[in-house]
Amino acid sequence: MTSETGSEESASLDTGVPHVARVYNYWLGGTDNFAADRAAGEQAMRAFPAIALSARSNRAFLARAVHFLAEEAGIRQFLDIGTGIPSANNTHQVAQAAAPQARVVYVDYDPIVLRHAQALLAGSSEGQTSYIEADLRDPRRIIDGAAATLDLGQPVAVMLLAILQHIGDDDDPYQIVATLMEALAPGSYLTISHPASDIDAEAMAKMAAALNQTMAEKVTFRDRDAVGRFFTGLDLAEPGLVQASKWRPASEAEANRPAALWAGVAETR
Ligand SMILES: C[S@@+](CC[C@H](N)C(=O)[O-])C[C@H]1O[C@@H](n2cnc3c(N)ncnc32)[C@H](O)[C@@H]1O
Repeated sequence: MTSETGSEESASLDTGVPHVARVYNYWLGGTDNFAADRAAGEQAMRAFPAIALSARSNRAFLARAVHFLAEEAGIRQFLDIGTGIPSANNTHQVAQAAAPQARVVYVDYDPIVLRHAQALLAGSSEGQTSYIEADLRDPRRIIDGAAATLDLGQPVAVMLLAILQHIGDDDDPYQIVATLMEALAPGSYLTISHPASDIDAEAMAKMAAALNQTMAEKVTFRDRDAVGRFFTGLDLAEPGLVQASKWRPASEAEANRPAALWAGVAETR
């Protein structure tokens, strides 16, 4: 168990300003949030009432994707960037249930997530988990930090779930993802879920405007083509880039749940 702390670039724990980790925690029914986060969360729910269900569909996609990676693709190393406040079915729990020796590195830049790192680090005795406080906009630092826990000569699954919408086009999110993936061995995987600008388009645009008025992290929702570009040069696993609830759903009911996100899992060559 290791945890790297003390990044000067980290978001400060300002409880008067809504932050996405805590707003998302509120949507998921958690209690690790403050009045400002709840107010921003409520305002977003007025614009897009299905956001809480959509957040749950995203968590369900996370669990199915990690299970697929550990069970079917044989992946034993995970780099989960934009971890969020621990919830049900965190990456290490799903991965280590399938493969107890799985190693997981978590990365987030919100100090409140760091406060929960101990819960994230309580993995299986055979596996290893660690936490790095870092900003996705500095992918080299993430790779260098991850190398302390992961063997970068072996495949790694990079998990970027509901985080890339916080990297605006000015920060070149495509180059950030390419830098991460180029540092990894062939047979590595990229998993993305990304809020959509072309599912429930009108309500999602209203919600984006509401969040961008209040929240510390600004959002850029993207359409299916723009999300698909993150997977350029990679081989998408079946069923490809689809609405998050339609990625290998466990049941018809799960497939039909609201999910205003595009989601996919792809392998490097
Ligand atoms: C909406 S939550 C998603 C949590 C989790 N990945 C999931 O899908 O359930 C987004 C997370 O990304 C983190 N985040 C946002 N921008 C970030 C950045 N530039 N670097 C690191 N973490 C970031 C937030 O602090 C938050 O915990």
